[in-house]
Amino acid sequence: MTALLCRLVAPARVARANISISRRLLSAQAPRPSTVSLLGKEYATDDVTNITSSIAEKLGRDLHRKPAHPLGIIRGLIEAHFTGFTAISDVSPLVTPARNFDDLGFPEDHPGRALSDSYYINRGLMLRTHTSAHEVETFRAGERKWLLSADVYRRDEIDASHYPVFHQMEGARVFSNDKTGMQELANDTARLASELERANIEIEDIPHISSTNPVQPEHDPETSALVAHHLKLSLNSLILKLFGGHGASTEPVRVRWIEAYFPFTSPSYEVEVFYRGKWLEILGCGVVKQSTLDRSNVPDSISWAFGLGLERLAMFLFSIPDIRLFWSQDERFLSQFSPGKVTTFKAYSKYPPNSRDLSFWLPGTGLHDNDFCDVVRDTVGDLAETVELIDQFTHPKTKRTSKCFRINYRSMDKSLTDEEANALHEQVASRVQEKFGVEIRN
Ligand code: DAH
Repeated sequence: MTALLCRLVAPARVARANISISRRLLSAQAPRPSTVSLLGKEYATDDVTNITSSIAEKLGRDLHRKPAHPLGIIRGLIEAHFTGFTAISDVSPLVTPARNFDDLGFPEDHPGRALSDSYYINRGLMLRTHTSAHEVETFRAGERKWLLSADVYRRDEIDASHYPVFHQMEGARVFSNDKTGMQELANDTARLASELERANIEIEDIPHISSTNPVQPEHDPETSALVAHHLKLSLNSLILKLFGGHGASTEPVRVRWIEAYFPFTSPSYEVEVFYRGKWLEILGCGVVKQSTLDRSNVPDSISWAFGLGLERLAMFLFSIPDIRLFWSQDERFLSQFSPGKVTTFKAYSKYPPNSRDLSFWLPGTGLHDNDFCDVVRDTVGDLAETVELIDQFTHPKTKRTSKCFRINYRSMDKSLTDEEANALHEQVASRVQEKFGVEIRN
């Protein structure tokens, strides 16, 4: 049955509303407060404000900075692997859209900028959607080998592997484009290559540069290929450390490289690791656009960068089945982990799910599925395990559209009674009605 359901993934990814469409939707909402308080400071709101209180509460939780939390443990392992790199982990999540998008060459109409996909405090300030937002300032501060970990925010569907707050680590290494820099590059390439040659790792590689994954016009193709090669070796070596070290397995670690596109790198790649029978995409990377280095006042240099998702790695390495668990304050979760150690999570319970359906006629201006998911989260928090769009229908005569969502309520810490699930569902229904003026059908 579940396999036939229309998951929210499809509409959320495909139907990306642009800002003007979403603004009409926001204007239909209840009046907003004139300021919002974040990390102890007040910020003015305006016509694009869409941050909710359940998101505001997450700022400052800093899970990646807790040494005995799976996210802190993974961060620590990666930082220990990249010796000589500066580790940064305390940068505010409030950034300008210029930092998050423009500085990195995102086009004006990129879907990530839409109100349906990102959280805005006001027109001039947003929650970073990725750690790449800090590339320019970090390069500008003179860092040449650095790792930056942080919480990032994206409006998204609700299921076991998606949460509107997650954590990324950005890494970069700059080489001077002169004799000394190229010697450093050659020496380190030789060191990494010889370590990997002796290791139990199988790598499916692709050309460093190709017509579909081109060298930048500002770069000498040979230098760009050398930097890309060093990037690949550096990440293969990290993956070997993370995935190769556990148990007495004689199976090789399997890695495959795939061509990718990012506005701020060229050539660009994605990396997948074969783990427990599946290929997992774990990171994006590439040779940094020269315009980014120019903007950062880093002359005569060339750099690589990567960005990886800490939850994704931790879910696989610790066998954590649900992304909400990272936010648990339950001792039965927290007491299982200790600094520097990757251990297998032992589920302490699985309480029964309680699903309820909600059908309603959409308002004339429409309603983005992510807006619906945010109201669910803001009303019941982590008690919503999944939200699935199970039916959608447009009346042939009136042309009105109705949607039916199935919300699965499940606590990770206790059993929910039918009455409790009913009460949660009623709250969601009335918040949706009040916020969007929809007409509930059931
Ligand atoms: N920022 C990208 C994301 O969130 C990931 C990424 C890709 C980071 C390529 C990089 C990079 O530094 O070079 O999807």
